Amino acid sequence: MATSPLMPDRNLALELVRVTEAAAIAASRWMGRGDKEGADGAAVDAMRTMLSSVSMDGVVVIGEGEKDEAPMLFNGERIGDGTHAETDIAVDPIDGTTLTALGRANALAVIAVAPRGTMYDPGPCMYMEKLAVGPEAVGAIDLDKSLTENLEAVAEAKNCAVRDLTAVILDRDRHAEHIREVREAGARIRLIPDGDVAGAISTCWPDAGADILIGIGGTPEGVITAAALKCMGGQQLGRLWPRNERERAEAIQQGYDLERILTQDDLVRSDDCFFAATGITDGDLMNGVHFNQRGATTESLVMRSRTGTVRHIRALHSQEKANEILDA
Ligand code: FBP
Repeated sequence: MATSPLMPDRNLALELVRVTEAAAIAASRWMGRGDKEGADGAAVDAMRTMLSSVSMDGVVVIGEGEKDEAPMLFNGERIGDGTHAETDIAVDPIDGTTLTALGRANALAVIAVAPRGTMYDPGPCMYMEKLAVGPEAVGAIDLDKSLTENLEAVAEAKNCAVRDLTAVILDRDRHAEHIREVREAGARIRLIPDGDVAGAISTCWPDAGADILIGIGGTPEGVITAAALKCMGGQQLGRLWPRNERERAEAIQQGYDLERILTQDDLVRSDDCFFAATGITDGDLMNGVHFNQRGATTESLVMRSRTGTVRHIRALHSQEKANEILDA
C-alpha cells in the first residue's frame, strides 16, 4: 500500500464501510431480542459475505477466535478477493453483543485493516489495561502513573480543571479501585455497560463529551481501537492483563512481556491503516440502524490514518437491499 504521500490513492475504508453497514443492518434485526449469539451470527455472516467482494488479499488476525470455535472470520482466515493489497484485518462484527441483545446504546459493527504483518497478536491474553485520550491530550497519559496523575496531566493539556473531565469506564467489579480513585480526584465518570471501542473513540469525537477512557477491556478491541485512534489523532496505551495464573504463565512462555506498555504503534505498526464502524443501536457517536418505508438508514464513521480524514456517512439502503442482507 506504499505510495507517494502526495498522490491520492485508493481509500480502502470507503469499501470497508459497506462491510460494517451490512453487519449492522443484519445485527439490528436482533436488537432487544435477548439473543446475543443470534445477533452475532447474523453480523458475522453479513460481514463475511460483503468482505469477499473487497479487492484485497487479507488475513484475519483479530477475529471471532480459533477455527474450531468460529466457522467464519476465524483467526488466520483469508479474506477478500485475493487481489491487490496484502492486509491484516481485525473485525468485531458487534462490539456490544449484550447492548444489541438488550437494545441498549452504543453497539457498533467495526473493522480495521492495515498492511500485512503490522497488527499486534495478543496471544493468549484476552484483556489489557487501557488509557485513551483525544488529540488535545496526546502525550499526557502514562500507564506507570496513578490515575490521579493522569487526570491532572489531561486536565492541564486540555486547559481545564480535573472536575471538568469525564472519564469513561466499563462498569465492572474489577474497576472498583479505578472508580474510587477517579471520584476522589474529582473527575466525572460515565460508567458504560459495554463497548469500550465506542468509549475510546468518544474521547476523540467532538461533542461526545468524553475526555479519557480508563480500565481493563478486551485486547482485540484494543487493537481495533488503536487503528481508529491513529486515524483520529488520539492516543491509546495498553498493557496485557492476564485473567489468571494459567493465562499469565502461557503468555510468559510465549515470550510476552507483561510489564511492557504497548503504544499505539506497537498495536498497529503502520501509518496507513483504515477503520470503519457503523452504529447498530443509537449511541453517543452516531445513530443505529433505523427502518422506514423506504428501507434502512445507517450512520458510519470511516477513517484513514495516512490522511487523517474522518468521514461521517449517513446512508439510505433501499428496502430491497436491506432485505437482501437480512435474508442472506
Ligand atoms: P462483546 O460485544 O464481545 O460482548 O464485547 C463487549 C465489551 O464490552 C468490549 O467492548 C470490551 O472490551 C469487553 O466486552 C470487556 O469484556 P468483559 O465484558 O468480559 O468485561
